[in-house]
Amino acid sequence: MTTLVVYESFWGNTETVARAVADGIDGPVEVVDVGKAPTAIPGDVDLLVVGGPTHAFGMTRATTRHDAVDQGGEPSHEETGIREWLAALTTVPGLDVATFDTRAAAVRRLPGSAARGAARTVSHKHLGHVVDSESFYVEGTPGPLLEGEVERARAWGRTLRS
Ligand SMILES: Cc1cc2nc3c(=O)[nH]c(=O)nc-3n(C[C@H](O)[C@H](O)[C@H](O)COP(=O)(O)O)c2cc1C
Repeated sequence: MTTLVVYESFWGNTETVARAVADGIDGPVEVVDVGKAPTAIPGDVDLLVVGGPTHAFGMTRATTRHDAVDQGGEPSHEETGIREWLAALTTVPGLDVATFDTRAAAVRRLPGSAARGAARTVSHKHLGHVVDSESFYVEGTPGPLLEGEVERARAWGRTLRS
């Protein structure tokens, strides 16, 4: 069985985490940008990992993606975020889902995370069984990831099929 890792990322931090998580997962893993991800989960996928940056205390929206691009984020990622992708998603029975996000370390005490928002959507829409949610931290809006976060992401990936 296969793992699908879907990420959204404006400066590459969430993509780096996605690839590190994928490194840690046993067996075949495909890592896909949310803009190119299938909206119907293939039948051989039994674990979906979905991650995005936290914007305004949750998953990105069109307005926050526009702000990110204004601040120098990758313009091709403005159209679709994990919120829109999850809204359009059809899944397979028995799918396990793990969610993650990246967040600014300076405001880590503030509530709200894209990972928790995505997990809520997965549960409410009965898209799968949420097995875990995790946050990884960046120094500022464009990054970089805090020291040790790539290793922590790989270690988290190892737990997802154990
Ligand atoms: C419009 C906007 C809103 C943001 N809001 C939050 C927030 O509410 N909480 C937070 O921790 N980080 C916030 N951030 C920082 C992002 O989480 C950070 O840019 C992201 O983790 C970088 O990952 P990426 O390179 O994959 O886009 C925000 C960034 C932008 C551009």
